[in-house]
Amino acid sequence: MQYIKVDNGTSIAQTAVDMIVQAIQQKPHCVLGLATGSTPIATYKELIKRYEQGNVDFSQVTTFNLDEYYGLAASHPQSYHTYMYHHLFKHINIKKQNIHILDGTTKQIEKHCEQYENKIKACGGIDLQLLGIGRNGHIGFNEPAEQLQPRTHLARLSKETVQANSRFFTNKKDVPQYAITMGVRTILAAKKIVLLAEGHDKAEIIEKLFQTGITTDIPASFLRLHHDVTVIVDERAGSKVNTAAKELR
Ligand code: PGA
Repeated sequence: MQYIKVDNGTSIAQTAVDMIVQAIQQKPHCVLGLATGSTPIATYKELIKRYEQGNVDFSQVTTFNLDEYYGLAASHPQSYHTYMYHHLFKHINIKKQNIHILDGTTKQIEKHCEQYENKIKACGGIDLQLLGIGRNGHIGFNEPAEQLQPRTHLARLSKETVQANSRFFTNKKDVPQYAITMGVRTILAAKKIVLLAEGHDKAEIIEKLFQTGITTDIPASFLRLHHDVTVIVDERAGSKVNTAAKELR
């Protein structure tokens, strides 16, 4: 794993966007895997800026989002559909038909998940997958558990995740308990993975990511099986990692 520690969230965004823009310039029809949450917001802002400056063209780019809350319609203010259009898609020249986000209202969950996997394959696989990390080590909504699911599936959110997500909902009882998420294998099948972590509350999990072995207790630890992962942290998220860790794979 490559480990990049930068000063702050703005520098995380710039470093991540340099990598995304490079991927698009090298392959204009590239396939991006996208994440939601607080951390990537600055990255999407920076991407929009580069687009407005004429440095990047999304007209041939395809995207697949990692996950979507189950039970929320696309139009719900807290859905990841809404998030993605608000923070990125409505500001850039991506084609609507090239945007893929899981449907949080599907009744045919298994079929929908399989179709999502097939669409990723049909597009040639994900070239660059952007990831955040939960304080509990989740990636997408693959929560710590005795067993992890390899493929896109319906996941029950951990108490900790429901609690973390509740900050976005006025009413606690509206916080979704389930989500549909890419599985660990779906994520690991991406050609390149860029994981972002910002802030003190990620310091402990980033330390664990580098210090412990591969364990289902920390789903992100499976990233150590991948040959091209870059972890970008700010000073605070990287405050517990000693520099030797950057050589870890
Ligand atoms: P955050 O979420 O960016 O809001 O901290 C990250 C995640 O849970 O994957």
